Amino acid sequence: MSKPQAIGIIDSGVGGLTVAREVIRQLPREQIIYFGDNARCPYGSRPADEIRMFTNQMVQFVLQYPVKALVIACNTAAAVVLEEVRSRTAVPVIGVIEPGARAAISASKTGRIGIIGTEMTVRAGAYERVLQRLKPDLYTMGMACPPFVTLVESGRYHTPEARQIVEQVIAPLTHEELDTLILGCTHYPLLAPLIEQAIGSDVTLISSAEETARELSALLSLHQLYADQGQSRVRHQFYTSGDAHLFRQIGEEWMGFEIDVETKSLDTIYQVK
Ligand code: DGL
Repeated sequence: MSKPQAIGIIDSGVGGLTVAREVIRQLPREQIIYFGDNARCPYGSRPADEIRMFTNQMVQFVLQYPVKALVIACNTAAAVVLEEVRSRTAVPVIGVIEPGARAAISASKTGRIGIIGTEMTVRAGAYERVLQRLKPDLYTMGMACPPFVTLVESGRYHTPEARQIVEQVIAPLTHEELDTLILGCTHYPLLAPLIEQAIGSDVTLISSAEETARELSALLSLHQLYADQGQSRVRHQFYTSGDAHLFRQIGEEWMGFEIDVETKSLDTIYQVK
């Protein structure tokens, strides 16, 4: 294998692109190798054992490439399996939950923080645990938003139907007097304009992406892993287990540049016990 040089990023689908875009913005010399398991998305309503197995398969896939750090850009996967992946992977691994929690704490003035995410992320209390550890006197309130990931994955996140669904789902939170709302699923930033309309512009929306990219940058610095100055033009690689055409369409709109996407099956990947 050639010298480890890329940043591996994985998600159940296109959600991790919200993190990838920020990594590319903050670290433009770094090459991304992205895998989205769109064929099996959503993960959020699946049992923990399945999420664990699928995530381990994505990790195995990405580690076939010369990767020097890995970002689990999926809250659901990170909530279930981050520590396990860390303990069995030779390269540094970061998740999105701690960075998101830190960003929320620094944004909140009143200490009333809401968290929206998948059923698994909310049920696991993943954000609450980190928030309480960092700052015990917070009021937190988590709510699952099951229809959101499907709206994004199908490319329907700009439609009037999406606006109506987001408004209905978010309605219970409007009575909570929150000043900060964590988008605790990496798909949700694609719905951010609609979520902001539904909750009100006085509530600060937090996406984990910026803080995760900052943590990645600090990690590369600590381990002296920054890309060589001489590295020629960076060529990112995007893989999906699903429809490459739809992935490219959503990806290019979000990233703002053309991307190459290839469909790869995880069927041949070694099953991690
Ligand atoms: N993007 C993912 C997350 O951050 C998961 C969505 C899903 O597959 O349910 O939780």
